[in-house]
Amino acid sequence: MAGEYIRAHKSSLEEREAFWAEAADDLHWHKKWETVLDDTNPPFYRWFPGGEVNTCYNALDRHVEGGRADQLALIYDSPITGSMKKYTYKELRDEVALFAGALLAQGVDRGDRVIVYMPMVPEAAVAMLACARIGAIHSVVFGGFAANELATRIDDAAPKVMVSASCGIEPAGVIAYKPLLDEAIDIARHKPDGCIILQRPQLGADLHPGRDVDWAEAMAAAEPAECVPVASTDPLYILYTSGTTGEPKGIVRDNGGHMVALKWSMKNVYGVEPGEVYWAASDVGWVVGHSYIVYAPLLHGCTTILFEGKPVGTPDAGVFWRVIAEHGVSVLFTAPTAFRAIKRDDPEASLMKGHDLSGFRTLFLAGERSDPDTLQWAEEHIGVPVIDHYWQTESGWPMLANCYGIEPLPVRHGSPTKAVPGWEFGVLDTECREVERGQMGALSVKLPLPPGSLPTLWNADQRYIDAYLSEYPGYYKTGDAGYMDEDGYVYVMSRTDDIINVAGHRLSTGAMEEVLSAHPDVAECAVLGVKDNFKGQLPLGFLVLNAGVERNNGEIESEAVLMVREKIGPVASFKRALVVKRLPKTRSGKILRGTMAKIVDGEPYKTPATIDDPAILPEIAEAVKELD
Ligand code: COA
Ligand code: AMP
Repeated sequence: MAGEYIRAHKSSLEEREAFWAEAADDLHWHKKWETVLDDTNPPFYRWFPGGEVNTCYNALDRHVEGGRADQLALIYDSPITGSMKKYTYKELRDEVALFAGALLAQGVDRGDRVIVYMPMVPEAAVAMLACARIGAIHSVVFGGFAANELATRIDDAAPKVMVSASCGIEPAGVIAYKPLLDEAIDIARHKPDGCIILQRPQLGADLHPGRDVDWAEAMAAAEPAECVPVASTDPLYILYTSGTTGEPKGIVRDNGGHMVALKWSMKNVYGVEPGEVYWAASDVGWVVGHSYIVYAPLLHGCTTILFEGKPVGTPDAGVFWRVIAEHGVSVLFTAPTAFRAIKRDDPEASLMKGHDLSGFRTLFLAGERSDPDTLQWAEEHIGVPVIDHYWQTESGWPMLANCYGIEPLPVRHGSPTKAVPGWEFGVLDTECREVERGQMGALSVKLPLPPGSLPTLWNADQRYIDAYLSEYPGYYKTGDAGYMDEDGYVYVMSRTDDIINVAGHRLSTGAMEEVLSAHPDVAECAVLGVKDNFKGQLPLGFLVLNAGVERNNGEIESEAVLMVREKIGPVASFKRALVVKRLPKTRSGKILRGTMAKIVDGEPYKTPATIDDPAILPEIAEAVKELD
């Protein structure tokens, strides 16, 4: 109905508590909350304090008891291994209860942390839900991160137990995970008591006697565990994300607010009904995987798809169409890069032929800017609405979207539409004043943030304030710059910090610079995100060598590439470094990264008035001619 979106958005802000209380009534509370929002200790806001819940109960048991026992809860479709497995709600609940028992047998208690370092196998979701079942806090680490990154997270989260697998399967081959896990535990100061290892048929792992337990044996010996009610405000998980330094930020998610927001979003943002098949083609290691592969679809009683493969090459650019048709997917959510890949390999979408896509309703894209070319291509070939929406690890669920379940609004290419109910956007100047419509500024959200968003950072309340809240008092800083048009459509243009987005993966160039600085021949360096037609952005490193280094530049560049791969991981896609004589800087010594990026991207650039030595810019332009 016309005006429905405006009404919902207004009511979410003006009658905040009533709005979210109504949404919370859709879920089971072991004990009802005392207050909807506790705002007595700003900037720390708490949702549904006094309430007791269990997220796993709401995701699984509630449906088993409520008539969905035999409905499919999860379909594991793995074209990369040629396998498929389906779980009904009852089967998934039983598997999760058993693994929860296995965790208890390992001494995991309510509030203990469990790190999950796994490829896209159903056991990853089982491990997450099992933690939720017993009130343990999971922290999933994406498989494409190297041992060093895993070690940083082990030290911060201090897990009692780690859950991992013998290997992951990537198009390039089998990736042994266990040696990375062992190395990470060696490097870390904190040592977990035990590790539960899923042995995959493609490659077995050697188990560490006294520390490692085989997943299958742990399950065989386990007793199923019941759901433990926890406080609404207790953490459900920690998810580390790139910050502006090499130290990742541990985003905390609570139990109560999270499940309320996620369940609400399924109907209202994505327009999905319980019982439908919903597919988020991402990875459980990212927030999209947490929210929309595991929690939201299950909380809503949908069938979720856990896809182990790539949009192209497993076996071809038709695999998305095959999965949609074969499993009856209504709504697909992925990153634009996936569609750029499909478009590149199959520009006419000829591999769509023969697949019945009649049940497919909407495609949602997020994670990076949706380029209009890709959007139009998808609209034209799929013939369903293609909806760009915007959110972050911190928010946990969409902040800007075309809320299809409330009222579809006209699509404007280049904009993820408007603020989702619960979110009040301000576009601010450096003095924290709202800029005029159409003017660029810092995209910020008025406090308090809605349920589901981060209440703080793990063990780092002050860092939470410093990183997000202090620059614009009364607002949460998203770290993105953009503008709002006269009609309230928001346009997200760029990051205001050193974060880049590579194939929908969020990475910090500062973290890569930290790695490169450790090279013995490197005096200083700069890593930039440069435009890439396929992955959106790619990192490119510039190295200035110590005086007197006479080694071959190519050798040093290759070593630099290897260092980033080994320290951060293949996910960084750091494939090129370039030795240059000097870096352009301002007179106060700040490296002119923005100007350098323009040079590499072949865009017009102005020589900044503050530049120390303008002659360096042509040197950089000359050096980048070497790049293909
Ligand atoms: N375990 C181990 N290694 C992994 C990994 C994992 N879970 N995930 C990725 N990697 C490796 C890849 O094998 C690749 O290694 P390589 O340099 O040896 O080739 C590297 O990390 C980069 O991976 P990726 O960025 O995914 O590039 P790709 O070329 O393999 O695939 C896309 C590119 C676009 C097809 C893929 O990124 C994709 O499907 N993205 C869209 C969906 C998505 O994941 N979105 C995330 C947020 S919504
Ligand atoms: P992540 O925390 O990994 O989900 O990354 C969040 C960041 O990705 C945001 O802060 C944006 O920079 C970017 N992003 C996500 N969705 C969009 C979008 N729809 N348009 C533009 N940028 C986006």
